[in-house]
Amino acid sequence: MLPPRGTAASLAGDPARPRLLERYARFLPLTSATPRLSLGEGATPLVHAERLGAAWGLPNLHLKLEGSNPTGSFKDRGMVLAVAKALEAGARSIVCASTGNTSASAAAYGAAAGLEVVVVLPAGRIAAGKLLQAQAAGATVLAVRGSFDDALVAVRALAGQDEHPVTLVNSVNPFRLEGQKTAAFEVCDDLGGPPDVLAIPVGNAGNISAYWMGFRAYHAAGAIDRLPRMWGFQAAGAAPIVLGRPVEHPETFATAIRIGNPASWEKAVAARDESGGLIEAVTDDEIFAAYRDVVRHAGIFCEPASAASLAGVRKLRAEGRLDPDATVVCVLTGHGLKDPASGARLAAAAPPREAEATLAAVTEALGWR
Ligand code: F0G
Repeated sequence: MLPPRGTAASLAGDPARPRLLERYARFLPLTSATPRLSLGEGATPLVHAERLGAAWGLPNLHLKLEGSNPTGSFKDRGMVLAVAKALEAGARSIVCASTGNTSASAAAYGAAAGLEVVVVLPAGRIAAGKLLQAQAAGATVLAVRGSFDDALVAVRALAGQDEHPVTLVNSVNPFRLEGQKTAAFEVCDDLGGPPDVLAIPVGNAGNISAYWMGFRAYHAAGAIDRLPRMWGFQAAGAAPIVLGRPVEHPETFATAIRIGNPASWEKAVAARDESGGLIEAVTDDEIFAAYRDVVRHAGIFCEPASAASLAGVRKLRAEGRLDPDATVVCVLTGHGLKDPASGARLAAAAPPREAEATLAAVTEALGWR
């Protein structure tokens, strides 16, 4: 028999890896009644990418590996808090629209909490791994004919009706951004201070807003003595903030950020302007090149959307708009294994060679003799 709803997963007490909600409790809206839910989210690696950075003329390039979260993306930081607060409020069902990662995360945390999970996705536009994650965890998957933006409109309406109460766990739920801001704390803790530039992909624009909230909160608490510049990057075919108007038919192979009317638009613009930063576009070719090079030269396999942060930094460095001594953190938001179809484009360049299992045949196939 399963324990009742609300008896949620939690970590054994490893002091070296405290639960995210406890590590940063003083910055989070927790009460004594908030379940200390955890699947082991947060405390993700910050990797100094020395070879890649040297190639790009950026010796202080660091990568924040958010693909190391339990469901393989940064969404888990916000979802753990949103689901804990939903449990606290007595919710039975949660719902989200998603380009894939939010739904994978909602499905996992909802499963751990014993909640009904409904995910609404743009049909045919979700990377295979993400869709499978939601299905495997038992979420009800609704594929709608339309874009992510259409799906978000639908779930907002669904969460507003009374007949079947359901908690919306998209980033318009304030607990999502509250949880996601913890990544900024970790960056500062691991670097021993803020970076000069925090570079991040922008889709629905929640994450750039959450990082900025986090940096400002750390600054206000005296944990850091200055603030980074926030650099956001959208895919050129889905760049509403760059264009200054919604994009009706957003298009990019980086499906996670294929969004034409971001919910946190104003917050992202505020993060850009208050930090003296920028939000610019990178083409699919630039994203693909960064996606390829970060795994080839830094060993980090991220998903295409994540590489938008790298593509932007590489471009601005090449244009002479970034000081070579700058400490730069690129947020790699999701794991490469989520999107096998894009991965196959990398693999196509290196098809497996076949050989008999003998020394002679293997050395021959390798061209070593
Ligand atoms: N990178 C990845 C891998 C994402 O999944 C997303 C957003 C972003 C970047 C952009 O973050 O929306 O906060 O600006 N994915 C959402 C989803 C929309 O439904 O999974 P954002």
